[in-house]
Amino acid sequence: MRAYLDNAATTPLDPQVVEEMVPVMQDAYGNPSSAHAFGREVKAKIERSRRSIAKWLNVSPSEIIFTSGGTEADNMAIRCSFDSLDIEHAITTDIEHHATLDTLEDVCEKKGIKLSKVRLDDKGYVDMDHLEKLLASNGRSFVSIMHANNEIGNMVDLEFVGDLCKKYDAILLSDTVQTMAHFPFDFSKLKVHFATCSAHKFHGPKGAGFLYMNKNLKVPSLMTGGGQERGMRPGTENVYGIVGLAKALDVACEHVNEHMEHVKGLKYYMMDALEARIPGVMFNGDPRGNSLYTVLNVSLPPNEKSGMLLFNLDIMGIACSGGSACSSGASIGSHVLSGINADVNRQSVRFSFSRFTTREEIDFTLDKLEEFYKEH
Ligand SMILES: Cc1ncc(COP(=O)(O)O)c(C=O)c1O
Repeated sequence: MRAYLDNAATTPLDPQVVEEMVPVMQDAYGNPSSAHAFGREVKAKIERSRRSIAKWLNVSPSEIIFTSGGTEADNMAIRCSFDSLDIEHAITTDIEHHATLDTLEDVCEKKGIKLSKVRLDDKGYVDMDHLEKLLASNGRSFVSIMHANNEIGNMVDLEFVGDLCKKYDAILLSDTVQTMAHFPFDFSKLKVHFATCSAHKFHGPKGAGFLYMNKNLKVPSLMTGGGQERGMRPGTENVYGIVGLAKALDVACEHVNEHMEHVKGLKYYMMDALEARIPGVMFNGDPRGNSLYTVLNVSLPPNEKSGMLLFNLDIMGIACSGGSACSSGASIGSHVLSGINADVNRQSVRFSFSRFTTREEIDFTLDKLEEFYKEH
């Protein structure tokens, strides 16, 4: 038996998505920019996908820009904004994904713009009073705060952050890569300027995603070339990816409550069982609070073999991902765990679930973990 508990890294393709993509791969080979029928048919598939996505998010189709995934969408939002929106200051947190954090650091350094970090509490939640102080005491800010953290699962209240940013005329990017298709969204109500999506996080294909960009913004394109995506993302479109992305979002959104219930049940089951079976176990973040239901970051007590835990889990057929707060030269460690001052002596493991995760996979993992801690 094997257990795949690394769904925050990527998810398996849903067979319904494959079914939708294969005929497009086989038959729809026209270039969507071609004026002839072969091209027009393919272009129609792209636009149908865009409309379907826009409907789920309650936005206009023109607010969806297809990209190669989350990293590109995050880069696009940040780099385009600093070139045109009179940004004087930037705000983020220490636990953002590298796709936004590194990009923001790069842009701010090159443009000589001050980058402030909002304080986090012990559990990793954003200090909203501090965010307001930073907004109030600086010029127009670009704020990058992710909706849910991919390592520890902490979430922010996007409605609250959006309202705060609006009060101070700030531009808000929220990396929604871990929450898109996992929660219902209504961007017509949220005061978010940019949000990002990656299909492979919800059983869609890799290399496909989009940037939601509020229609009132006017920003220049990052790239030059053809006029695809209304000039914002030139280059021949990833048609199969786009069709797969739209189908994956359809399937996820149609059954979002059902999926949520199933996955949340597994997460809480695993938490309870770990507490009962592994003495000294703790959790990073606030998994029973405002937390992503697909992620559980477990902090395990130190013992002489715990450094080998991930290696052992892999050998035993369990896929999960590691994390250490260590930031010494020997190991780069996790900037998220360092950012919340996690104990460097404990071994942290992120288990992440999807609607395809089974109770058997969790039980198998629990048995192996218990064995490991009994033996060592
Ligand atoms: C929060 C977050 N943002 C961005 C990304 C990058 O997405 P992609 O793999 O589509 O470039 C990821 C994926 O790991 C992520 O978890």
